[in-house]
Amino acid sequence: MNKTIIKLVMTILMFGLMKIDFVSSTTVDELKKLIENATIEANTYEFPTDARKFEAKDDKIIELGSYDFVIIGGGVAGSVIASRLSEIRRWNVLVLEAGKVEESEFNEMLGYTAFLALSDLSWGFSSVPQTTACLGFLNQTCRAYRARGMGGTSLMNGAVYERGMPSTFDEWAEITNDPSWSYKHVLPLFKRSEDFHLRNPNTPVERKYHGTGGPLNVEQKVPQDFVASLFLQGHRELGSDIVDYNGHTQLGASIFQLYTRNGRRQNVYEAFLRPVSQRRNLNILTKSYVTKININKKTKTAKGVMFTRNGQTYYVRANMEVILTAGVFQTPQILMLSGIGPRKHLREIGIDVIEDLEVGSRLKEDPLCQALYITTNMTKPVETLEEQLRDYLRGVGTLTQAYSTSGVAFQRSQFEEQNYADIEFIAASLDKSDFDVAYAGWKNEIYQAAWGDNTNAIAINVHNVNPRSSGTVRLRSASPFDFPLIDFNMMSDPEGHDMEVLFEGVSRVFDLMQTPAFRSINPQYKGSPLPGCENHQFLSKAYWFCFLRQTCTAANHVRGSCPMGSNPNQGAIVDSRLKVFGVRKLRVADSSVMPTSMSGHPTATIIMIAEKAANTIKSDYHHMHPFH
Ligand SMILES: Cc1cc2nc3c(=O)[nH]c(=O)nc-3n(C[C@H](O)[C@H](O)[C@H](O)COP(=O)(O)OP(=O)(O)OC[C@H]3O[C@@H](n4cnc5c(N)ncnc54)[C@H](O)[C@@H]3O)c2cc1C
Ligand SMILES: *[C@@H]1O[C@H](CO)[C@@H](O)[C@H](O)[C@H]1NC(C)=O
Ligand SMILES: *[C@@H]1O[C@H](CO)[C@@H](O)[C@H](O)[C@H]1NC(C)=O
Ligand SMILES: *[C@@H]1O[C@H](CO)[C@@H](O)[C@H](O)[C@H]1NC(C)=O
Repeated sequence: MNKTIIKLVMTILMFGLMKIDFVSSTTVDELKKLIENATIEANTYEFPTDARKFEAKDDKIIELGSYDFVIIGGGVAGSVIASRLSEIRRWNVLVLEAGKVEESEFNEMLGYTAFLALSDLSWGFSSVPQTTACLGFLNQTCRAYRARGMGGTSLMNGAVYERGMPSTFDEWAEITNDPSWSYKHVLPLFKRSEDFHLRNPNTPVERKYHGTGGPLNVEQKVPQDFVASLFLQGHRELGSDIVDYNGHTQLGASIFQLYTRNGRRQNVYEAFLRPVSQRRNLNILTKSYVTKININKKTKTAKGVMFTRNGQTYYVRANMEVILTAGVFQTPQILMLSGIGPRKHLREIGIDVIEDLEVGSRLKEDPLCQALYITTNMTKPVETLEEQLRDYLRGVGTLTQAYSTSGVAFQRSQFEEQNYADIEFIAASLDKSDFDVAYAGWKNEIYQAAWGDNTNAIAINVHNVNPRSSGTVRLRSASPFDFPLIDFNMMSDPEGHDMEVLFEGVSRVFDLMQTPAFRSINPQYKGSPLPGCENHQFLSKAYWFCFLRQTCTAANHVRGSCPMGSNPNQGAIVDSRLKVFGVRKLRVADSSVMPTSMSGHPTATIIMIAEKAANTIKSDYHHMHPFH
């Protein structure tokens, strides 16, 4: 056979193996049924208050033998690590995941992302009542959404692909005293995971920062919509650059890069692990809820993992290591349940202390302030659901992006001393909706006042993506079936820095409204004074401070509950090789380990951390199995 024929045959074979998205056999009617179903489910969803449904029926413990690596949590990080470690055929790898493998096509429709948070995919956490943020939400709590299932929270997130500022990683190298975390060294890991496809040439792309051929498809929404064009033009007029925010700098305006494939959600399990799930050395146990890591108290060595499944308790040993990737709330929860945590707290709860570390003491979350609704004289193009779905089946249009978002801009406030972006703006074209009230948990009177008399608007969300405030994750009790206590404590730093940054964000939204681009649609802020803020002169600085404390909630970019660093006496939980200080054969490798904010959306960076964890483990064992 000549080369062309071989190539042709290869192409045909490859196509056979690929999931063909363009020629979807699903019909508009089938999608409509899925939407109806999810709407009913979301409208009747009740938030669970604990994880008792995972409790065992008796005290019997079933021994399950041993694996070389036991990975706790098959989420974003867990899926990547399981995929990379099982490349070594002599290692056998077990993944324990509380949820299941998601099969519904509904999950792929990014336009309905918010519905997924009010479904059985959701863990259903909320923060404890807050005093400095989330005041306009039921019981003064912020929702703390996380998904359960293979792929973890990538099953219900916005699929925004964003890496943060390059200098972030140089700072991580300094904090950990390990140059391998510097941007120069982690960039190849970002690129290795990526399969970048240019589908929308309206914003620049710096090719040398992007990878092709990796497991994760990255693309932009097609086509660009009116709000995105307006947003970009307004920023141009303010002197902002239009950038590839994953290129040499994040600072500027852009449209989102998404890890979707032809406009459909591609969760991280599907991208990294499903294609190799037939490997004989890889075992994935779903519906398995981990309750504890067994650690030998004398040798301080992780021995194995306890979990429940279908009402029974199991114990599995780890020959080489236990790798904890249960996410930013449950990773610290499991560590504390296993005796690793702040001594005083564990004693109060009644847990034997094995290693005294400040687990859960530096939780970081970004405040997301999303109630700046701007009324315009623009009539929204009318699209029927039929039309939207038909577009969707071709991989384009409204339903291929979450939360109706359009443009994005990363900026530096006057308070940012280094070169990080600390404010992120996101534009979204929104209608007033009861569903939004249920999703965010708004107090209805606050939501209604923020909208005023309007029914649709362009919202410009303001995030502080480099906040100084931090919060905690603690145990409610010694029971693994109680939810952890989550206290975001946002906008609480004593200097008031975070509030000033957000206020500057609000001012800049009003600057944007003054640009010729925005003036052409006659933008007006028509919110009414919020209940609780009437004492302040409407639209004064004091009013906006009050407004922000009412309307800012959690951006779901939580991180840092078990930060890496070089010194456990300064709050570090893991070293630069992601090993837990003072304990052998135990690593943490998910969003919990991020030592600083990374100015943006965390998933791409978590994937990089997981890639690096797998590389480190391979090099620690020289790819060798200890028993051969
Ligand atoms: C609504 C929403 C929107 C978001 N949008 C974006 C976005 O657009 N872009 C972006 O970059 N990021 C986004 N994020 C954040 C991003 O999804 C998370 O930061 C990321 O998924 C965290 O990865 P992880 O591996 O740390 O944890 P997860 O992906 O949450 O994985 C943890 C896994 O562990 C499992 N687990 C937990 N406890 C146990 C236990 N005891 N036993 C067994 N298994 C357990 C969980 O079920 C889960 O599967 C969003 C998050 C939310 C909630
Ligand atoms: C609708 O939802 C129910 C329960 O949530 C499920 O059992 C059923 O299979 C769903 N139907 C479709 C068409 O997805
Ligand atoms: C608010 O708190 C009350 C009392 O503590 C509780 O009964 C109620 O369920 C809570 N509501 C929500 C939405 O959390
Ligand atoms: C919207 O308002 C602007 C500014 O007042 C005006 O120039 C434009 O013609 C108006 N457009 C419509 C559709 O009314």
